[in-house]
Amino acid sequence: MKLLVTGRAGQLARSLAQRAVDHADVELRFAARPEVDLAKPGSLAAAIGSERPDVVVNAAAYTAVDEAENEPRLAQRINADAAGEAAAAAAEVGAAIIQISTDYVFDGNRDRPYREDDRVQPLGVYGRTKLTGEEQVRAANPRHAILRTAWLYSPFGRNFVQSMMTAARSRPVLTVVDDQRGSPTSALDLADAVLVLAGRWSSGGRPAGGATYHVAGSGVTSWCGLADAVMVECRTLGLPAAEVRPIATEDWPTRAERPRYSALDSGSFAAEIGVVLPDWRVSVRSVVRQLAREVAA
Ligand SMILES: NC(=O)c1ccc[n+]([C@@H]2O[C@H](COP(=O)([O-])OP(=O)(O)OC[C@H]3O[C@@H](n4cnc5c(N)ncnc54)[C@H](OP(=O)(O)O)[C@@H]3O)[C@@H](O)[C@H]2O)c1
Repeated sequence: MKLLVTGRAGQLARSLAQRAVDHADVELRFAARPEVDLAKPGSLAAAIGSERPDVVVNAAAYTAVDEAENEPRLAQRINADAAGEAAAAAAEVGAAIIQISTDYVFDGNRDRPYREDDRVQPLGVYGRTKLTGEEQVRAANPRHAILRTAWLYSPFGRNFVQSMMTAARSRPVLTVVDDQRGSPTSALDLADAVLVLAGRWSSGGRPAGGATYHVAGSGVTSWCGLADAVMVECRTLGLPAAEVRPIATEDWPTRAERPRYSALDSGSFAAEIGVVLPDWRVSVRSVVRQLAREVAA
């Protein structure tokens, strides 16, 4: 089974590369800059046309939530239009597409984990453009799965867990927002889920129509809770650890508004695909350990 993944250095792309090693039947290819630029119409479609994969995994995105407020057209181009073009190009070569989307399509006014059919109402440019991307993928290729995930962290690139570990090396106290709650998700766990779903399709279980699933780490916490768990593991490993103090969103102003509550209910994915992502605390420990090994190496 040939998978074409967009982006090469992104957290999910690198996680797929690491996890695909355990899947002998998977041939992984990447469509990434500088050869493939999602900002340029036709660039990704040409790559899909020449690679002719079985499945396109559209992992690349304009993920800078605050910067997107200043660059809405570029965010729209990358998160929405390029996704639609990828879906159409995949359909042309008979490929399915897995489109990665986000919990930020919701406004955060609920008090229970969001289900797939809950009302979408993004608060900012990033969420709006990712939502338009979902719509474009649905319209362009019936053989799609849209996987909404959340709060990704990994041993790769810049992410919240890595930032907290870096900050703890130079600061004794970290103040972290405690009134935004969500579902921290290891990109490695998400990569496992993507590979199971793609494998299911290649062995004949591909749904005729499309599907939208929530796929996030089990459990709910705040950014402060996540930072605290990182520091607990750092202390266990003898790494620099800081005291974590809770603050309110108002005390940490950002350009883009974020949902106060965006936990995802991943029950449908568990029931239909048979994959439950581990509890976020378990995966945080594992990622902190992997990052610690890299620092030590
Ligand atoms: N990060 C999160 O917390 C989070 C939460 C929910 C959903 N998601 C979604 O999950 C997916 C994976 O996120 P991630 O954290 O792995 O993303 P990431 O680490 O920020 O990586 C983004 C990737 O997109 C690529 N990219 C950006 N602009 C591009 C362009 N014009 N042409 C080609 N490639 C371009 C980047 O390429 P370069 O390496 O060349 O820069 C990079 O490889 C995304 O669809 C994101 O929207 C993420």
